[in-house]
Amino acid sequence: MRLFHIIRAQQFDRELLSRIFSEAREMEDVARKGGSDILFGKVMATVFYEPSTRTRLSFESAMMRLGGRVISTENAREFSSAAKGETLEDTIRIVDGYADVIVLRHYESGAAERAARVSSVPIINAGDGPGQHPTQALLDLYTIEKELGHIDGISIAMVGDLANGRTVRSLCYLLAKYKDVKMYFVAPDVVRMRDDIKEYLTRHRVPFYEEEDLKEVASKVDVIYQTRIQKERFGDRIEDYERARGIYIINHEILDVMKPDAIIMHPLPRVDEIAPEVDEDPRAAYFRQAQNGLYIRMALLKMVLTG
Ligand code: CP
Repeated sequence: MRLFHIIRAQQFDRELLSRIFSEAREMEDVARKGGSDILFGKVMATVFYEPSTRTRLSFESAMMRLGGRVISTENAREFSSAAKGETLEDTIRIVDGYADVIVLRHYESGAAERAARVSSVPIINAGDGPGQHPTQALLDLYTIEKELGHIDGISIAMVGDLANGRTVRSLCYLLAKYKDVKMYFVAPDVVRMRDDIKEYLTRHRVPFYEEEDLKEVASKVDVIYQTRIQKERFGDRIEDYERARGIYIINHEILDVMKPDAIIMHPLPRVDEIAPEVDEDPRAAYFRQAQNGLYIRMALLKMVLTG
C-alpha cells in the first residue's frame, strides 16, 4: 500500500520500516552522486508554526536533491494568515492546492491529524507540540540500526525531558515493534515519562524501568538517548523548569562508564545536557544522526510522492 499521510509512529509496521530503511540506504548513494530528478515537477510546502533547523532544512534539502521544488512559511504563527485568525484547517485547504505534499510543524498536539482530515495531499507531521515527531523517530531507528547493526535486543536509556519530548514518545512506539528491547527512563521528577506511553509499553510487553542514577544506567545500555529540558513547554512554571534543568548531563564521567561500543544520541538542539567534550568521542552519534535525517526524508518523500 502507498504511504500517504505520516502522522504517528504507530502507523508503521516492521515490513514498512524495513522498506523505508532500504530506500534510505539507496538515498545515501543518490545524495553522494549529486541527487536525482525523480521528483521533478513536484512541489513540497513546509508550513512551520514552531522553530526548526534540522527538520525543515533537511526536508527542503531532501526535496531539492530529488529534483522537486519547495515553498515555505517558516514562521507561520506570525507570517502566515494564522496571524489574521485563519484556522489551521483553512490554511491546509489552501496550501493543498499549491503543493503535492505538506510538511507541517505545529505547537498543538493532534494538529497533524486535524490537517490530514482536510487535506487532499499527504501531510507529514514534522512535530506537533508535545505529541509526536514520527520522522525523527524513523531517523533515530535508522541510526541505531546503522551504528549497532541491529535493533532487536538493544537496551536504551532515554534521558531528560520525557514528559514533553515528542521524539522519545514516537521512538517508544517504534521500538515496541522490535524484540527483546529494554528501556530505562531517567528523568527529573517534574518531567517523567507520561502514563500513556508506559501503559502502551506494558500492553506490548516491553520491559521498562524508571531510574534515577544515570551513571549506573549508562554502564549497561547500548544507547543513551539524551534530550533537552524544553523550556518553551513550561509556560509560567519557571520553578519547575529550574528544578528539571542541569540534573542529567552527559560528560566525561558518563563516557568513562559507558560500554566501548555504545552510542550517545540526541535529537538536537542541545543546550547544556551534553558537554562539548563529548563531541570528539566516537560514541557521540548525534551529528551522524542528524545527517541520517536527510536520507530518511529523501526516502519518505520518494515513497509518498511516487508510491
Ligand atoms: N530534532 C529536531 O526536530 O530538530 P529541529 O527542531 O531543529 O527541527
